[in-house]
Amino acid sequence: MDRITFKVNGELCSVSSEVDSDTTVLEYVRDTLKLHGTKFMCKEGGCGSCVVSATMPDPYTGGRRVVSINSCLVSITSCQDWEIKTIEGLGDRRTGYHPVQRALAEHSGTQCGYCSPGWVMSMYR
Ligand code: FES
Repeated sequence: MDRITFKVNGELCSVSSEVDSDTTVLEYVRDTLKLHGTKFMCKEGGCGSCVVSATMPDPYTGGRRVVSINSCLVSITSCQDWEIKTIEGLGDRRTGYHPVQRALAEHSGTQCGYCSPGWVMSMYR
């Protein structure tokens, strides 16, 4: 296998030797794909502002499973056959908001809003 292939918000992506092996999913979506909706603060798995959804092969069932991940902790080179969804892939004012986004906004659950995308992606999973 010479390239790692995966999807981000439905778009096929691949990486190889052009990225360092310690490049995180967070760095890839923000710096390479320019998807800045995924935020960061601690970069050590503590704050949750970087959470994205990932659908990945499940070696136990042979099927696929959907999990929320702290994108600051996961290497992009470990994402073979993953489907990653960021807050941009969930919904927006043009395409319509996801019910989780709408509920958070309607019930004033955003506070400053910085880490709201991570909350939404954790609840969406
Ligand atoms: Fe805080 Fe990832 S940046 S958990």
